[in-house]
Amino acid sequence: MNSRLLSNMSVNEDNQLEISGVNTVELANKYGTPLYVYDIALIRQKIEAFREAFARYEKRTQIAYASKAFSSLALYELLAEEDVSLDVVSGGELFLALQAKFPADRIHFHGNNKSFNELKEAVENKIGCVVVDNFVEIDMLNEVTSQLESQMDVLLRVTPGIGAHTHEYITTGQEDSKFGFDLGSGQVEEAIVKLNEMPNINVIGLHAHIGSQIFEVNGYEAVIEKLIDKAADWQERYGFHLNVLNVGGGFGIRYTEEDSPLPLKAYAEAIIQAVKKHASKKHIDLPDIWIEPGRSIVGEAGTSLYTVGTEKTVPGIRKYVSVDGGMADNIRPALYKAQYTGVLADQVEASAVETVSIAGKACESGDMLIWDLILPQPEQNSILAVFSTGAYGYSMASNYNRLPRPAIVFVDKGQDWLAVRRETYQDFLNLEISRHDQFEK
Ligand code: LLP
Repeated sequence: MNSRLLSNMSVNEDNQLEISGVNTVELANKYGTPLYVYDIALIRQKIEAFREAFARYEKRTQIAYASKAFSSLALYELLAEEDVSLDVVSGGELFLALQAKFPADRIHFHGNNKSFNELKEAVENKIGCVVVDNFVEIDMLNEVTSQLESQMDVLLRVTPGIGAHTHEYITTGQEDSKFGFDLGSGQVEEAIVKLNEMPNINVIGLHAHIGSQIFEVNGYEAVIEKLIDKAADWQERYGFHLNVLNVGGGFGIRYTEEDSPLPLKAYAEAIIQAVKKHASKKHIDLPDIWIEPGRSIVGEAGTSLYTVGTEKTVPGIRKYVSVDGGMADNIRPALYKAQYTGVLADQVEASAVETVSIAGKACESGDMLIWDLILPQPEQNSILAVFSTGAYGYSMASNYNRLPRPAIVFVDKGQDWLAVRRETYQDFLNLEISRHDQFEK
């Protein structure tokens, strides 16, 4: 068995890659490429892993899926069935979630620059909570809730001054950050005092997100200790009650064989233990625990299929093999130097192999998907499967070079169905306004 394959993958007797019992070569023929394939059973398994571990906690817990990792109507519908909560960061994500009939009271609204209208939509739709990020937002939310004569629960987003060991662009818990109220300088206290005077806003707890693709539990333990210490102090000074402690997302996944992430339950168990330990030490009631996993729910469940096109050998240096997608459907290698692995879906195991570099189709030298991948010799029209592309692939996709965004297919135990259709050239025209229509009436 090829060591690159994930647990939900297998190879059939024709040496072709199957995901959850569905032949990926047939998927590529049926739906075209590039194609995102999501294994729904794996998404459910990841949720279940968190749920099972948190079921052992005395107080309530919420797993709030971070929509930014991947959102679609069908995914939101599935998540609604799974009884998880949802983190949205824009009116657009909120709109799609509501279209999917996601229960509004399980939606949490994040973001460092929510507009007045976005806050209004949140309050009008009676979402579960707003994670307030700054003083301007507090004033806007106060105005919105007063105007609409409504109440809103809020968490205070805190920048705890704890950065996780990860890529700088995806670290968000350090002090010098655009997100949240700074813990060290007294901003959080100021926000609590201010919010205490706003009868329509209910502060229910604290939120911190320390970063992404984290492989250790100590960052979570450190932030829990810090926030509980502070909360105990604020309880005495301002009557603040930590009903909810939200420790964000960031749980690491396997992109390549080099990654060995912890099982998801290990993060959950460490979080529970740390909360219990510090709450008991500081004599405060146990808070509800909320988390916001994005990547760890959908990342490994997603696989991208591409068709091999041209190739070019630079003598003595490398062979470039080009595929029909690239940075337009997966910006992560170009943006973060993210590493991926994959196989030829139509020739998973083969004795003759070579080292190639997988180039994208966009007109940019940086559009490389994988450097130095050992593969059976790829031929024109071979299907390349790139693994663990389920998070921040489609959600960060663009139409660079007017490449239509790929379709998304869901698979589950031998079945496949379309979740998002492929963009067409005609879709491009839907937004365009011709000079003829504008001026030559
Ligand atoms: N909660 C908050 C407040 C966040 O800012 C994030 C991610 C998450 C939860 C979910 O983190 P996850 O569990 O997915 O790691 N585009 C980058 C990742 C940006 C993450 C931003 N915030 C990437 O492709 O790696």
